[in-house]
Amino acid sequence: MISLKNVSKSFDGGRTFAVNDVSFDVREGETLVLLGSSGCGKTTLLKLTNRLLESTSGTIEVDGQDIALQDSITLRRRIGYVFQGIGLFPHMTVEENVAMVPRLLGWSAKKRRERAHELLETVGLDPKTYARRFPEELSGGQQQRVGVGRALAADPAYLLMDEPFGALDALTRDTLQQELLSLKERLNKTIVFVTHDIFEALALGDRIAVLHAGRLEQIGTREEILKKPATHFVRELFAKPAKQLAAFGGML
Ligand SMILES: Nc1ncnc2c1ncn2[C@@H]1O[C@H](COP(=O)(O)OP(=O)(O)O)[C@@H](O)[C@H]1O
Ligand SMILES: [Mg+2]
Repeated sequence: MISLKNVSKSFDGGRTFAVNDVSFDVREGETLVLLGSSGCGKTTLLKLTNRLLESTSGTIEVDGQDIALQDSITLRRRIGYVFQGIGLFPHMTVEENVAMVPRLLGWSAKKRRERAHELLETVGLDPKTYARRFPEELSGGQQQRVGVGRALAADPAYLLMDEPFGALDALTRDTLQQELLSLKERLNKTIVFVTHDIFEALALGDRIAVLHAGRLEQIGTREEILKKPATHFVRELFAKPAKQLAAFGGML
């Protein structure tokens, strides 16, 4: 389990807060979606969770241990991270990208290779076709699969995914969303998934945490959030797509 307690982060010495007194738990085996518009603090929250950033105040525990007291390398082996944007290394082949963490962990070339090929199969890319290619020789969706494979390399219990499908066309995004759901079941991961897309949040989240201007507005299942919005902001956020859908419904 990941547990955040009163977590805040200021980049300007406390004048403003990118993350403001946020508390929630990520339960074992769930997909928790962090939903909010650009600049609301989603990426900052993910980075705090694997110590790419240090919080200004509050505590974050992973499996009951305060991450501030843990070695960040050991922590990152337990937490896979899919970065916002594509974030593959352009001068490395697909295989080298996927095997980056195993290389940092000192695995032999043979073991790295086997693991890379296994991971490519896991994310639906034929190693024979794709292992030797460079990122620029792949479609956006294929690059994103490689990014997911790379995050899974050390078999982490947790996966943090920062708008992984944000740059993809709607059809590719839909396919990858479905595959992520089946991957999660097969591999038994706990996932924190960041998006600004309400429909993606509703499709993927076992629970949804709605963020606004650094604060947590509400966390709950889609039913709880749709039926009992906790704040005016949450009500308005979900009312707009509902109205649009109703308008389309009238046209069909
Ligand atoms: N390294 C940084 N230095 C200063 N300000 C930052 C930094 N990273 C993020 N911010 C600010 O923190 C706020 C939240 O950013 P971010 O977490 O990236 O939002 P989101 O991912 O939801 O779009 C924004 O106002 C952003 O400008
Ligand atoms: Mg972001």
